[in-house]
Amino acid sequence: MKDKKYDVRRRYEATATQYDKRYLEIQMSKYNEIFSEIDVDNSDIILDVGGGTGLLLDFMENQTSNIFCCDISFKMLLEGKNKHKTNHFICADSDHLPFKKNIFNKIVCVSVIQNIPDPQITLREIHSSLRSEGIFILTALTKLFSDSDIKETMHKARFSILKLWQLPVEDIAVIANKNEC
Ligand SMILES: C[S@@+](CC[C@H](N)C(=O)[O-])C[C@H]1O[C@@H](n2cnc3c(N)ncnc32)[C@H](O)[C@@H]1O
Repeated sequence: MKDKKYDVRRRYEATATQYDKRYLEIQMSKYNEIFSEIDVDNSDIILDVGGGTGLLLDFMENQTSNIFCCDISFKMLLEGKNKHKTNHFICADSDHLPFKKNIFNKIVCVSVIQNIPDPQITLREIHSSLRSEGIFILTALTKLFSDSDIKETMHKARFSILKLWQLPVEDIAVIANKNEC
């Protein structure tokens, strides 16, 4: 498991300076779709798991600054840090999130899960960091995950799906909340 994470990190470190050039447009189209479904206001405290170069911060620039971008790749975060003068960039593995329980209103995890060796470990961490009334937004590549894979994964991690739909590009998206039972 450690080897796979090490390889993933190395891959993103090697291409970090090119990431926005290659993926900005496609990732922004995903954020556009997702955030047309949910409201964000200034009181929200948002965690972006596997947030990479901070494209969610770019997207939310005029809506809120309470976004914490956490990623395993230091170089991806550095790209984000060069764009945003905030200290909300945290280098951490999503299997070991360094946050208190029940702290975030919203947790976002866009195009990350394909890199995670055991998604249940990450989802357990997300469940624990999310407030009881909080919202979790996940996207996953359709070429690797079917609707039923995602439903099963979310159910197992004690999330209730509020909406699941196909984005116009690449990913399935899910909006969920905590199923406390
Ligand atoms: C395809 S990029 C998506 C970045 C960002 N979410 C976006 O929408 O542009 C995947 C990101 O997941 C990060 N990642 C992969 N495995 C991770 C892990 N175990 N913990 C935290 N981040 C991880 C990578 O470093 C990379 O920045």
